Amino acid sequence: MSNLSNQTAETKVNAYLEEQASLDTLRFITCGSVDDGKSTLIGRMLYEAQQIFEDQVASLRNDSKKMGTQGGDIDFALLVDGLAAEREQGITIDVAYRFFSTDKRKFIVADTPGHEQYTRNMFTGASTADVAVILIDARQGVLTQTKRHSMICSALGIKNIVVAINKMDLVDYQQAVYEEIESDFRSFAEEMNFDTITPIPMAALKGDNVVERSQKTAWYQGPTLLGFLETVNTQLSRIDHALRLPVQWVNRPNLDFRGFSGTIEAGAASVGQKIRVLPSGETATIESIVLFEDNLVKAEAGQAVTVTLDREIDASRGDVIVSADSPCEVSDQFEVQLVWMDQEPGYIGRSYWLKIGTNRISGQITDIKYKININTSEHLSATQLELNDLCVVNLQVNHPIAFESFKDCPPMGSFILIDRMNNQTVGAGMIDFALRRATNVHNQKLDVDKQARRHLNGHTSKVLWFTGLSGSGKSTIANALETALHKQGIRTYILDGDNIRHRLNKDLGFTDADRIENIRRIAEVARLMLDAGVVVLTAFISPFQAERDAAREIFDDDEFIEIFVDTPLEVAESRDPKGLYKKARNGQIPNFTGINSPYEIPQNPEFHLKTDNKEVDDLIQELLTQMEFRA
Ligand code: ADX
Repeated sequence: MSNLSNQTAETKVNAYLEEQASLDTLRFITCGSVDDGKSTLIGRMLYEAQQIFEDQVASLRNDSKKMGTQGGDIDFALLVDGLAAEREQGITIDVAYRFFSTDKRKFIVADTPGHEQYTRNMFTGASTADVAVILIDARQGVLTQTKRHSMICSALGIKNIVVAINKMDLVDYQQAVYEEIESDFRSFAEEMNFDTITPIPMAALKGDNVVERSQKTAWYQGPTLLGFLETVNTQLSRIDHALRLPVQWVNRPNLDFRGFSGTIEAGAASVGQKIRVLPSGETATIESIVLFEDNLVKAEAGQAVTVTLDREIDASRGDVIVSADSPCEVSDQFEVQLVWMDQEPGYIGRSYWLKIGTNRISGQITDIKYKININTSEHLSATQLELNDLCVVNLQVNHPIAFESFKDCPPMGSFILIDRMNNQTVGAGMIDFALRRATNVHNQKLDVDKQARRHLNGHTSKVLWFTGLSGSGKSTIANALETALHKQGIRTYILDGDNIRHRLNKDLGFTDADRIENIRRIAEVARLMLDAGVVVLTAFISPFQAERDAAREIFDDDEFIEIFVDTPLEVAESRDPKGLYKKARNGQIPNFTGINSPYEIPQNPEFHLKTDNKEVDDLIQELLTQMEFRA
């Protein structure tokens, strides 16, 4: 008997698990501040969807008695606030994801703090949401923050909005109050890109219209919140889309099998389908689709599969397999919307890692078009990006990538920016469109190239990049080294801080942003000179590792030689050849390196010259013995 009931229980559990596994998942976000009753609403939904374990309910009852704000009743806010926030790696953001399910659907709700300064939190939570529930306190109506939340949701391409008009109990469930808020909301949301706006009168605390229909709003004919979330249709667009399968890795267990593995982000793949691999554009036909051990005839968005093709194609991680007749675009310059998430400002010209789909490449902001005042939608000008700024910028990546605008296909058009030094996520954004500038400019292939010029000179060309504090001796050492090389018959040229700043870079000062641009231009000039076959010596403080690395990146492996002229600040300051340290100490020069602007010690320079108590001649010898310019 007991065996039988065990079996029945097991069968039931299995049936339940199977049913659950087959359900689709809806992601939604709740926007509003604590005062709007957001935590209470989420807690109420979790509770009523009966996904809270009995013991959790029991302890909740106890806690509510002890410290709840609702007399002896359960305080649902405690349930939510008590759960730990899940932090995304590298982003210090308080987005808590909660999971629950009903017999119709599984749900993931992103709960983000509503305070004004947390734009980035909301952005993160909303970037993957299918639906946004925007809370409005019935007593307050549409507020500035309601508009702000709606604007971010619209920018992120959320199509379905629920306007949860909460605390209806405090306005006697009056239909007129509900209708006025509804019409206010609709009138300002007109210009936003929403497909559906569903207002629901609610009292989350009492449970009115959250899961059960309320008697108190007999005048309301629409769905309850959970009813709406269970039935709203959001999946269609991704499956209706053309195939987008970013390659995560090339699966080659043996010589006979070569498959491309990844998650289908949009559309479907089927055996026999013609595909194109981007950015190369090569075409092939899908021969098989493998999921674990099974061979499928067709796979859809959301499935992680391995596909094999009818012919050898050169594809690797970051490439995208798309349907041959409906490919996406390929570009290296974009206009994007970007939220800045780091304390350290974002600068034009600085090199960041850009992670888009399975691709990770170098990229730079090339222009900040404007930043958006989130409360008023006003466009403001900006020269750098500050924490929580939402901006429209131009972005450039180092080689063309396959992409799609965020509004057409979110997984193909959203990206994050990562700091190259500490691997922190510093920004998140969405591609609006590719910039089509300069597409008709191609690198001119010239007959006389770098190798030919080097050959004629009888020596190779390199960049010797001196870095160090002002007064460290960069110019002196570079000058002496140039003299020695010149005597050996080597063609050289010095780019020196003070000289370049008088002409080419005379528009630049010493803010971080200006130094970044200074170094970027110098690296480009050095590259031209290297191409001309010359040994280039540069003498600039170049205080930031990120820009030294970015400079290195535009050269071949052994062409860029970083020389750290390591003179302690006290020594440089005591030399003070131009009297600048003294002025800086007196507060007459702002942003002076070493005094009130940082110098980042080089991480891996080819040469580390400790200049203290050394003669210039000895330092030059140290360099010359280890440098070879003639093959
Ligand atoms: S960098 O930081 O952008 O690489 P760069 O090497 O071009 O600086 O210029 C540094 C020179 O400018 C210094 O040697 C000094 O003569 C002068 N200078 C004037 N103001 C400053 C400042 N605020 N910080 C550093 N150097 C300054």
